[in-house]
Amino acid sequence: MELSKVISGKLLSEEILKDIANKVSDINKSGKRVPSLAVVLVGEDPASQVYVRNKKNACQKVGFTSFEYVLAADTTQNELITLVEKLNDDKDVDGILVQLPLPKHLDSKIIIDTISPSKDVDGFHRYNMGSLALKDPNVCPCTPHGVMYMLDSIKTNYFGKHAVIIGASNIVGRPMALELMNRGATVTVCNSKTRNTSELVADADIVVAAVGLPNFVQGDWIKDGAIVIDVGINRLADGKLCGDVDYEAAAKRASHITPVPGGVGPMTIAMLLKNTLSIYLKSK
Ligand code: GUN
Repeated sequence: MELSKVISGKLLSEEILKDIANKVSDINKSGKRVPSLAVVLVGEDPASQVYVRNKKNACQKVGFTSFEYVLAADTTQNELITLVEKLNDDKDVDGILVQLPLPKHLDSKIIIDTISPSKDVDGFHRYNMGSLALKDPNVCPCTPHGVMYMLDSIKTNYFGKHAVIIGASNIVGRPMALELMNRGATVTVCNSKTRNTSELVADADIVVAAVGLPNFVQGDWIKDGAIVIDVGINRLADGKLCGDVDYEAAAKRASHITPVPGGVGPMTIAMLLKNTLSIYLKSK
């Protein structure tokens, strides 16, 4: 098997950002208010700080207005709800994003339910998740939607294909399964108690790894010609980033593979901007 082709999230996301920037420039020229995103960060989780900074920079790049709310780690549930309600009512705010995970004393379910579904750029609200589950999508969660964009970019045909997702989180695994089901794939979702993950992966035409464990998916699990999507971003002791897949070994077998960094990460941000723009356009 020849070496696999790399699906570059970096390049794909740059095209998407360019397209959005052009649209914002037209909005600006017409004298209208540009799209805006409010990002809320509670506490000082270093990974979350990096993600929030990247989101803010991406907003700036395309010409969106971004509002940043950095709250203390001991912010109460009521204080956070009050802020979200204020943002719901603010006509100058199109999208609201509360960065997860939240500190343990806060109930993320209640917070996500408080965000107006029409401003929920993450697509995490039960109305938006439910719409996706009913194959009538409204706002779709950014990471799975970015993965679909990558798969579509290589003209993936989903019918009769076995997709194996490793990880069942509300942010990635579950909405990823729904997206792939909606497109006609046969979907298996593994969790940490799954007994035969490696055997299931060995049968997969599409593998989506979202476990959060460095090099969890070994190269010799991958079927020849499979498409391998690595959602993991793990920081090793030496400071280097690595995914959930043993990239070098998997690349020897896969037809296509996504790198880390420069793969799914930038696509998540591109989809966030796309969601923000479409929410803005819907409200006009
Ligand atoms: N934490 C990890 N990924 C995400 C995401 O896509 N959105 C939010 N709000 N929090 C996250």
